[in-house]
Amino acid sequence: MSNTGNTAPMTPQERAFADQVAIWAKHMQDNRIYGFRLPTEAERVAEAATGERLFMQPNPRQADLLTAWMDPKYKVFTFTGGNRGGKTFIGSCIGESTLFGKWLWDDVRLPFKHRYPRKVRYVGQGWESHIKAVIIPALKFWWPANRPLETKKNNQGVDAIWKDLATGSTLEIMSTSQSSDVFEGWHGDLVIYDEPPPRDIRVACARGLIDRNGRELFCATLLKEAWIHREVIKARNEDGTPDLSVFNVTCQIWDNVGYGITKEGIEQFSKSLKPEERAARLDGKPSYMSTLVFPRFQRELHVKPAFKIPLDAIVDISIDFHPSKKWAVVFLATTRNGFKYVCNEIWEHGNPKYIAEQILRIIEHKDNQYRIGRCIIDPLAKSGTDNDSDVYSIIEQVLGSHNISLDVASKDKDNGIALVNNLLWTENDMPSLWVFDTCPMTIKQIEDLMYDADSLKPTAVKVDDDFTECLYRLALLDTQWFPPKSFDISNQRSMML
Ligand SMILES: Nc1ncnc2c1ncn2[C@@H]1O[C@H](COP(=O)(O)OP(=O)(O)OP(=O)(O)O)[C@@H](O)[C@H]1O
Ligand SMILES: [Mg+2]
Repeated sequence: MSNTGNTAPMTPQERAFADQVAIWAKHMQDNRIYGFRLPTEAERVAEAATGERLFMQPNPRQADLLTAWMDPKYKVFTFTGGNRGGKTFIGSCIGESTLFGKWLWDDVRLPFKHRYPRKVRYVGQGWESHIKAVIIPALKFWWPANRPLETKKNNQGVDAIWKDLATGSTLEIMSTSQSSDVFEGWHGDLVIYDEPPPRDIRVACARGLIDRNGRELFCATLLKEAWIHREVIKARNEDGTPDLSVFNVTCQIWDNVGYGITKEGIEQFSKSLKPEERAARLDGKPSYMSTLVFPRFQRELHVKPAFKIPLDAIVDISIDFHPSKKWAVVFLATTRNGFKYVCNEIWEHGNPKYIAEQILRIIEHKDNQYRIGRCIIDPLAKSGTDNDSDVYSIIEQVLGSHNISLDVASKDKDNGIALVNNLLWTENDMPSLWVFDTCPMTIKQIEDLMYDADSLKPTAVKVDDDFTECLYRLALLDTQWFPPKSFDISNQRSMML
């Protein structure tokens, strides 16, 4: 027997429950930010009774961003990637939470170095097409009805200033259509960009963050603004080392399936796109990134603070030589457990003898005392005929006097690159190759090297590739760790000679 169409009157208990759920559902709808978390069992039952989704959890990439937000060492956050990945959703949520000073869903305080009301700037694109249509609705979606709010309109009729009356904190909405000088002369705690700003607007806003040690959040689908990739996502310190105060999240449209969107919705959207647009808009890979030679390299994962290489690790050395450019030398250690670390690099002008001596200086430094495996050099260093004054012979002589032999490196570029990529991310879903933060040139070139879009050859498009060349040649050596030979004479009988 079916219960469908059962119109039996509710019992008083059922009515009380239904009334309670209705009150509660209305409260949750008006105060969604409190429900940005896993519901309790009772809440789940009540939510099911309303037939509406009142609790929204962050999708996995949004969760990464929220976790990193609690770490005070990060100052610049990028949440970039495909369309509909939930960028505006999380940006507006973080913007309001900054005003409140805490995540309202679990009452955890956000890290601030002061106790003043907070000031947030939210930079959108066009007033009508983007700010009115996307940003204001997102801010309204999150703002809790139980929280007093004062808004002020600007000349465009947009509610451009939002003041949280409970804390006195303010959020100011601006548009990239405004000229860059109106962005100057401000100071605050956070700037959020929904979609990429022109560079001069970013510079003007960033100045205003200095006083309060503020933060930046870029929520963007990167279609053409390559400067954001270069200067923000891959930001470097003045000495060339990666700027580790930057936290990057890359989202794909698929990350938001089951949260804000459906697979069917994506398939429909996908039909309207050209193949190269799909990479950018669905997978979050702008065309300038789909040609990266080492796409698996992530500085958060692969750059390690330098540590003392164990004495039994095997250190291989690769030398790249050009008559007119600086020399590039890379040292790669293989430890007992098979992990590999780029532990030193040399980037200097000098004659072959000088470079060989620099190599010895590193090897024999009291903090290193490396156990050397193999040392290889660019085939160019060996001039065709036997000649004891070519680059190869000079270096061979200097290193040979310290019992280090020199070989010519392999030129098998394609396999070398594949091997480096396999080491950066192994079949066990983990890296087995890292780079010390004291090797900025190696890091820079791994991050920047791109395939030429036409020939698909790894050419140096405006970037040098000497260090990556050294690295893939080292990978081709495929050095496996083995125990150092030790001559144990304790069991031998002493004898008189
Ligand atoms: N964690 C979530 N839970 C539920 N819904 C979500 C979640 N994240 C995003 N959404 C919803 O998914 C849709 C896409 O999100 P949003 O607009 O933030 O994406 P976007 O990356 O900014 O997209 P676009 O590229 O179009 O700017 C919206 O309807 C949003 O409300
Ligand atoms: Mg958006």
